[in-house]
Amino acid sequence: MTDFKDKVVFITGGSRGIGKELVYTLAKEGAQVVACARNIDKLIEICNDLSEQGFKAYPIKLDLESEESIKGAVAKTISLFGTVDILINNAGVQELSPVSDMSTEAFDKVMNVNIRGVFILTREVLPYMKAKKWGKIVSIGSLSGRRGYPEQAAYCASKHALVGFTKCLAYEVQKDNIGVCIVAPGGVLTDMSKDLRISRGDTNEAAWLTPTQIVEGVMFVLNQEGACFTDELVLRRFASEPWR
Ligand SMILES: NC(=O)c1ccc[n+]([C@@H]2O[C@H](COP(=O)([O-])OP(=O)(O)OC[C@H]3O[C@@H](n4cnc5c(N)ncnc54)[C@H](OP(=O)(O)O)[C@@H]3O)[C@@H](O)[C@H]2O)c1
Repeated sequence: MTDFKDKVVFITGGSRGIGKELVYTLAKEGAQVVACARNIDKLIEICNDLSEQGFKAYPIKLDLESEESIKGAVAKTISLFGTVDILINNAGVQELSPVSDMSTEAFDKVMNVNIRGVFILTREVLPYMKAKKWGKIVSIGSLSGRRGYPEQAAYCASKHALVGFTKCLAYEVQKDNIGVCIVAPGGVLTDMSKDLRISRGDTNEAAWLTPTQIVEGVMFVLNQEGACFTDELVLRRFASEPWR
């Protein structure tokens, strides 16, 4: 089991959904959590709530569409904590639209947040992990990184790209004792899936994964030590097709 008490954990998309649950879980494990997103008010609310419960997390405003914002968030983290031990690339956006109707702006936004932002942030954080010869990078992928779904071309493209990015990065940093993993869920009950649930008429909430279940998967990966490592952890809805 990993002792999180001496670990600085940088979590993107910490303002809601899976990321918010990650912030709570890792803060309660004693990690020094940096919670990032655009909605700084929401982050402050979460960090204050944790503080009232006797735990610590630090809010930093981050827009993954902006290289300047990413570099600023990393610089702030380094000035406060000196390093990043664990990076969780959780933030993501979805734009539901058939290719024929999708605007270039919508496509760019999805790619900018889901893969370009992940690339820039990871590149900025890597020197600190390399210097310590220890690090873990967990990115939240999706079943959309393994197969196609109608009206999700940009999202599927971005999550397939994340898989390719992760595969290459894992090779490059293995010698630096940095483990790189994707946790790939199916449909999760968050704001992101709301439109999808309605448009599919798939509104039985009990059949959707919960943020807690995804966080349990991330914690499994973060707690792995020694000779064992997980490259990809697929978490599908029991009601969905097996082995897809
Ligand atoms: N929900 C699902 O069905 C599902 C399934 C498979 C995989 N996933 C993946 O799980 C991850 C988390 O999704 P979720 O379901 O928790 O979604 P969510 O509830 O919609 O939360 C998305 C998070 O990303 C942040 N974010 C969005 N745009 C951003 C930007 N430009 N810069 C920085 N942060 C940004 C949001 O914060 P702000 O708005 O405050 O910036 C929010 O905290 C994503 O990578 C998603 O692709 C979700």
